[in-house]
Amino acid sequence: MFARSCNNVYMIKSTSKTNASNLPIGIFDSGVGGLSIAKAVSEQLPKENFIYVADSNYAPYGCSTIDKVKERSFRITQWLVDQNVKAIVVACNTATVNAIEELRKEFDLPIVGVEPAIKPAAQASINKSIGIFTTKATAENQRFKALVEQHKGNSEINIQPCPGLVELVESGEYDSIQAEELLKKYLLPLEEKNIDKLVLGCTHYPFLSEQINKLTQNSIELVETATPVTKQLKRRLSECGILSTISKAGVNRFYSTKANSELEITMQALWKGEIKLSPLPV
Ligand code: DGL
Repeated sequence: MFARSCNNVYMIKSTSKTNASNLPIGIFDSGVGGLSIAKAVSEQLPKENFIYVADSNYAPYGCSTIDKVKERSFRITQWLVDQNVKAIVVACNTATVNAIEELRKEFDLPIVGVEPAIKPAAQASINKSIGIFTTKATAENQRFKALVEQHKGNSEINIQPCPGLVELVESGEYDSIQAEELLKKYLLPLEEKNIDKLVLGCTHYPFLSEQINKLTQNSIELVETATPVTKQLKRRLSECGILSTISKAGVNRFYSTKANSELEITMQALWKGEIKLSPLPV
């Protein structure tokens, strides 16, 4: 549908711009974590329609191989493009660092990714020591390591992979004893480094914010990316002249590779609202 012009503005071939403006945005994650991004989109761009995909059958991406994460990202993006979306948000740090460059080469529409907010955290750190909670796959990724080097400034960056947390959020156990125990274990080495900012480098982790704040007694500021990502999405849609022009609230649809009632209940609790979950056929 889109052809990229030389100045990187997207021209609509077969749909008029007004019609394209009101097409949905595709948002995907390995599971329910991307709802933290979708929530910001629905609050800050309320007229946008979106299709959310939770690839829960294949979660966690953070313990998967690079090839698998790429393959799933390509399949889902292709499906979303087939649904005629006007833009894609890769609402997953792990898929962003592993697949976004290739997705952008392959698919000719705006694709916005999620990257941990290292730069603002490092700049704002009084102690010049920050922590990053990430998945294992993100922690090992070269693009992520380059991002750390690029933005660390004169702050010490302490990367903490957090296996197990995604699974607990996926199963709705984010307020459990197990979550508390794991969080304590992952916070301890960072507290020893006297961090004053903790970057949440996985979109599942904002759903653990309350528990983290309780454990640290609010002594460490949590830094997440939902608002900057939504701003970037708005910028890209505006550049392409495809911001929604509808006058009422957008329609949101939710799909998953594991569309069962348990997941639907978990998603409703995280979304704090009604969600009707449909099976994703890819
Ligand atoms: N929520 C994702 C992220 O931001 C993926 C987590 C996972 O599936 O391991 O990295």
